[in-house]
Amino acid sequence: MPQIYSRIIATGSALPERVVTNVDLEKIVDTSDEWIHSRTGIRQRHIAADGETTGDLAFRAAQSALEAAGVKASELDLIVLGTTTPDIIFPSTACLVQHRLGANGCAAFDVNAACSGFVYALGIADKFIRSGQSKKVLVIGAETLTRMVDWSDRQTCVLFGDGAGAVVLEASSEPGIYATCLHADGGFKELLYNPVGVSVGFNDEPNHGVRIHMSGREVFKVAVKTLDSLVGETLEAAGMVESQIDWLIPHQANLRIIEATAKRLNMSMERVIVTVDKHANTSSGSVPLALDYAVRSGKVQRGQNLLLEAFGGGFTWASALLRY
Ligand code: UT7
Repeated sequence: MPQIYSRIIATGSALPERVVTNVDLEKIVDTSDEWIHSRTGIRQRHIAADGETTGDLAFRAAQSALEAAGVKASELDLIVLGTTTPDIIFPSTACLVQHRLGANGCAAFDVNAACSGFVYALGIADKFIRSGQSKKVLVIGAETLTRMVDWSDRQTCVLFGDGAGAVVLEASSEPGIYATCLHADGGFKELLYNPVGVSVGFNDEPNHGVRIHMSGREVFKVAVKTLDSLVGETLEAAGMVESQIDWLIPHQANLRIIEATAKRLNMSMERVIVTVDKHANTSSGSVPLALDYAVRSGKVQRGQNLLLEAFGGGFTWASALLRY
């Protein structure tokens, strides 16, 4: 049997219209553009309008990817959507998007792996295609993380934004995705989490206690170390060396973490896609938003090798090395 690969045939993305700059945030918490930019690389973020949901952003990103691919929703046989901010508890946001696209009948489910959600979803979709189960798959990463932000907490509210990105994957005899690596360690729960939910209940804090708790400095240290070993593992799994990677498309949480990964790969920052300045941390949205920006701006060309990686709550961490 010839080897089956999954190939990204097109990308898409969607951002809310409203832009909030660091200077805007200076008016609501004790912070400064200088502090935020020097510590994170962020200058601004997009924030969902009242009533605008993760599903709305996912739907728009999916439409733009399908249009670019020239694929009809009815041709899809799977939708996998990474999110940690679903519209409602169930049905999954993937099912809501499936119905709006008119892709009814194909399998559709959400993956909650926090900021690694899109790369996890991509890894899962790749396995469906490689096994022969699926031929055309829509993979989405979409979030409205600012809905979980406490706007009086300067340590977290400056970090996040909303947005979505999507790719259409197709079965191909040519690579394609060479390797994906997915990992988690639930032992780090206390460093980055949202403590309330259906099973444990809600509390009397504002927004019923729906709020991101993060020990930033500790998360930072583990992220740098973990991504360092993840990129080595991914290169080995793909049978490649650093110099064969044309572009690093990292999770956009902090420019200093991105620079550390680039250094580990001996890559100049000219070969790294950076959108954290414009989008901030959009969790599952961040890698596909950066990928779509890289494709549509003409930076990434067909035939080039891309390394995608992400790290987030769980902890979870994941990567994909692919030929675009
Ligand atoms: O996407 C999921 C994974 N998440 C991440 O990867 C995030 C990882 N962590 C980080 O990106 C960084 O740790 C942060 C950007 C969150 C924080 O940067 P840091 O350099 O680690 O700062 P810090 O937490 O050590 O805080 C330094 C100082 C503190 O003041 P003192 O104790 O030194 O007096 C903070 O109170 O900065 C203060 N601070 C702020 N000052 C102005 C914290 N937040 C702010 C703020 N504006 N927004």
